Amino acid sequence: MRVQVAIVGGGPAGHLLGQLLHKAGIDAIVIEQRSRDYVLGRIRAGVLEQGTTDLLDELGVGARMHREGLVHGGLSLDFGGAHHRIDLHQLTGGKQVMVYGQTEVTHDLMDARSAAGLKTVYEAEHVSLHDFDGEHPKVRYTQHGINGKEEHEVECDFIAGCDGFHGVSRASVPAGALQTFERIYPFGWLGILADTPPVSHELVYTNHARGFALCSMRSHTRSRYYVQCSLDDKVENWSDEAFWDELRRRLAPDLAENLVTGPSIEKSIAPLLQLCGRAHAFRPAVSGRRCRAYRAAHRCQGPEPGGQRCALPGALLAEFYAGSEAGIDNYSAICLRRVWKAVRFSWWFTSLMHKFPDESGFGPRIQAAELDYLIHSPAASASLAENYVGLPLESW
Ligand code: DHB
Repeated sequence: MRVQVAIVGGGPAGHLLGQLLHKAGIDAIVIEQRSRDYVLGRIRAGVLEQGTTDLLDELGVGARMHREGLVHGGLSLDFGGAHHRIDLHQLTGGKQVMVYGQTEVTHDLMDARSAAGLKTVYEAEHVSLHDFDGEHPKVRYTQHGINGKEEHEVECDFIAGCDGFHGVSRASVPAGALQTFERIYPFGWLGILADTPPVSHELVYTNHARGFALCSMRSHTRSRYYVQCSLDDKVENWSDEAFWDELRRRLAPDLAENLVTGPSIEKSIAPLLQLCGRAHAFRPAVSGRRCRAYRAAHRCQGPEPGGQRCALPGALLAEFYAGSEAGIDNYSAICLRRVWKAVRFSWWFTSLMHKFPDESGFGPRIQAAELDYLIHSPAASASLAENYVGLPLESW
């Protein structure tokens, strides 16, 4: 089989890129190692940047998001037992974020993909990438068919690696061709999902002497909460009651009083690479013009910038097939500029809100000064807001 682009990974990134390419008239296949149900069963972040919601609208897959998603024009920064609202809408000239699970986005994109009759392979086994640097990159995989195991080969112009940090794409890049920069934070996030009404109608980020806490949500009836925990903590150490007690201790008194608790439907310590442990960025030195596995940095705090990550390769591939190679040849440089800005914001926000080991007491005082500055300076609040809703694609 031959396509223009082989997308490895059928999560939100792979499916979004698939839809972007379809819109540009580019022929692509999505190859996913897991089943559709498995992909849709993954718990993922739930706040989308404005750029992502705009993109989903452009692609014609935003209808359910607008029906079921919750638009948030602000957030609360809590410290010292008080709330401080950051008015995202006003500070960014009308932008906002959307509470709508990434899993739901994936669902909508999968539906759109099958409605358009586009090819997705689920449960592909032994996926391997070949001839990266050559003119004819290939993806091979096996699949159970009526005649038992069948071998498949997809030849393409480009392979888009959308299968995450632990995926085969990243693992296939030759050692030495990839430089990794990472920051490992000395804590994790213990998260809980519960069918209880959210404690506040907007997200609440709390800096507390016992550690960070975040009150988020998936809907009016489903809450998502996180508390900072130690790196070696185990989820078995946390009964639901212990979680709710710890969360209550960290919230401002009025929220603590209003917190509705209930049995957790999911409880986990966020794997470090996925949520809060480390921000990492790659500097791909892979130079084959015909193939670039792409992968952007993970942000550990703030809305998910995934949509924007896909918009760029989507646009550059569209340009390439329209006859201009300049963009795709500079893909890494363009991409990394954006990625590092997302990493920078995440690093800054993480550093501001968490409790770090610090014997001298210098760190908490700097945090207190910065929080005080942030809520009183319109310029500082605007800087938080414009990063939180997502920097524009053509950003500086
Ligand atoms: C969520 C995660 C985040 O990192 C964040 O900043 C806001 C919300 C969430 O999972 O709901």
